[in-house]
Amino acid sequence: MSTEPPKRVLVAGATGYLGKFSVQAFKERGYSVRVLTRSKERLSEPGPFTAPALAQDDMDEVFVGEITKPETLTGLMDGIDLVFSSVGISRQRDMLTFDQVDYQCNQNLIDLAVAAGVKRFVYVSMQGAENIMQLAITQAHEKVVDALKASGMEYRVVRPCGYFSDMGVLLDMAKKGRAYLVGPGDNKMSPIHGRDLAHVCVDTAEGDALEVEAGGPDTMTQREAVEMAFDVVGKPPKVTVIPMWLARGLVKFIGLLSTQFGDLADFIVTAGEIDGVGPPRGKTSLRSYFEAMNAGDPNP
Ligand SMILES: NC(=O)c1ccc[n+]([C@@H]2O[C@H](COP(=O)([O-])OP(=O)(O)OC[C@H]3O[C@@H](n4cnc5c(N)ncnc54)[C@H](OP(=O)(O)O)[C@@H]3O)[C@@H](O)[C@H]2O)c1
Repeated sequence: MSTEPPKRVLVAGATGYLGKFSVQAFKERGYSVRVLTRSKERLSEPGPFTAPALAQDDMDEVFVGEITKPETLTGLMDGIDLVFSSVGISRQRDMLTFDQVDYQCNQNLIDLAVAAGVKRFVYVSMQGAENIMQLAITQAHEKVVDALKASGMEYRVVRPCGYFSDMGVLLDMAKKGRAYLVGPGDNKMSPIHGRDLAHVCVDTAEGDALEVEAGGPDTMTQREAVEMAFDVVGKPPKVTVIPMWLARGLVKFIGLLSTQFGDLADFIVTAGEIDGVGPPRGKTSLRSYFEAMNAGDPNP
């Protein structure tokens, strides 16, 4: 039996979809888990899009602080071997930009980790980022990757395809009887369950590969995913296509009103145009997820 103390991981982004599953995955895999949050309450609430509520047993320590204010993070990295960060904007909540959150918050963590002598840092970017570098979100993500490479720490980058969190929206629309697609929906994707991805993140943290792409077990078009959602809820598929020219016009208009919402809309519309397929590292099929959601399973 090993007498070595468990490795100590700091999970940042622990109130988010991937973050909640990652806290559980690191704990299951024997780590001592410290989470960083700006809201203790949000940890124990069910997370966005069927992410689990965390129990006290899932975590060893909770550090409350604001990543945007490094002065609130004194001692955050003490004793930490490994940092895992899935901090980023997927819903606009604070009226901050991708640069301010996805880049600067993670840069703040990198600076603190380097100063504290943390050995390894694992960051979650995106699959196929190199193809959409015109977007503010990808620029921010890749600035973090560059900062990690220059940091002197050991680094790992996880590059996932779309999460099942985004697919849950399709089932909700199918239940209501009509789904909306941005563009014709013939682009291919291989979305991944957050629980599966969290274990890929732990594997990546422990492995030698510097960058790891990850998709779910099935590749399908967006339209096929929508049709699957209708099939699972037992309704005939009714799909309204928002033409790309209209979606692009809306993005421009939103961008004039708000950089923050415009950049998010730009990302959503672009994701409706491009393929997002990665190596099948997830095991949970989208159909089984839809079926579990439809049956009211709280942990689909
Ligand atoms: N969704 C996808 O399909 C997809 C695909 C590939 C890559 N990714 C990337 O994966 C990462 C995680 O995604 P996710 O879906 O897990 O995101 P999420 O559910 O929105 O969680 C984001 C986390 O970041 C934190 N955060 C956001 N703004 C913050 C701020 N101003 N100050 C402090 N903390 C802040 C949130 O904390 P609070 O709860 O306190 O707000 C939350 O813990 C993101 O970087 C995303 O770009 C997503």
